Amino acid sequence: MFRVEKASSFDSPELRPYATMRRPAAHETQGIFVAEGVKVVRRLLESHFAVASVVLPEKWLDDFRPLLEARPEQITVYLAEKKFLETLVGFSMFQGVLAVGKIPPPVSLDDILRKSSPQASPKAKPRQEPRLFVAVDALTNAENLGALVRNCVAFGVQALIVGETSSSPFLRRAVRNSMGTIFQLPVIELAKLGLRHRFKTKPHTTKLTLAECLKELHLRGVRCIAAHPHTNEKVLSQADFSGDCCIVFGSEGDGISPAVLEACDEAVAIPMPPTVDSLNVGAAAAVFLYEVNRQRNKT
Ligand SMILES: C[S@@+](CC[C@H](N)C(=O)[O-])C[C@H]1O[C@@H](n2cnc3c(N)ncnc32)[C@H](O)[C@@H]1O
Repeated sequence: MFRVEKASSFDSPELRPYATMRRPAAHETQGIFVAEGVKVVRRLLESHFAVASVVLPEKWLDDFRPLLEARPEQITVYLAEKKFLETLVGFSMFQGVLAVGKIPPPVSLDDILRKSSPQASPKAKPRQEPRLFVAVDALTNAENLGALVRNCVAFGVQALIVGETSSSPFLRRAVRNSMGTIFQLPVIELAKLGLRHRFKTKPHTTKLTLAECLKELHLRGVRCIAAHPHTNEKVLSQADFSGDCCIVFGSEGDGISPAVLEACDEAVAIPMPPTVDSLNVGAAAAVFLYEVNRQRNKT
């Protein structure tokens, strides 16, 4: 269901999220995010995520009509030409198609483990596939986070655990770089202090740090494997990904923090010549996750 309105003024409160696209922290605290571009907005409308509004130039309306008609909620579609929109958001855009979506309610570690467990329902067949989770520690670059999300979905990761010092994967640039794959990936966001109200309903999600979360996973039989360029412990081809595991990736500057590294069961490196410090985290994730799937006969 949807209704169409011409966006003629910048004052409308419904258009405020678009006018504040450069202040993503405000969006995060309101539990909303902005999706940008034809493909990403299309994937948002195809997903189970709640959508508040869409802004697009009139020429795109017929393209989006079937998707908008199929939505269960009432969506306002604001018609705005690209030039008007660029004045509103404060930068130039390629297609001028945007949407505001709602960040889904938080998922807990228990939810994720239950969903991938053979006891999920009495009728469920024994689980064939081992669990595969990814965690990020202090990953702040939204574009890198988006690329990593895209890799996670491409390689069948069942959930992403976002450490308390990482950026949100619902930042506009992260959503854009994920190419909308974020709408398919269950995310456990370990709450930053300032955002606790968003997690009120499930207080246990607020209490765990990433290190504690990894220790909890270990107790539940999930091996936590640090992707660490500077370890002599093991290289990727020697690592065993056949059982339940969570692969942990670190930040652009400092890599994985000592506390998180300590909480991992082992550290594994992609071998590189001494003249190269490390790979980009998205590239490292692609290499690791390809190897996991190769070992699990999924390639
Ligand atoms: C840009 S790197 C971090 C570089 C940082 N200077 C360090 O010393 O770890 C970002 C993340 O990508 C992953 N990574 C990059 N290259 C890797 C490699 N060769 N082996 C394993 N993980 C790697 C790690 O998780 C790392 O924390």
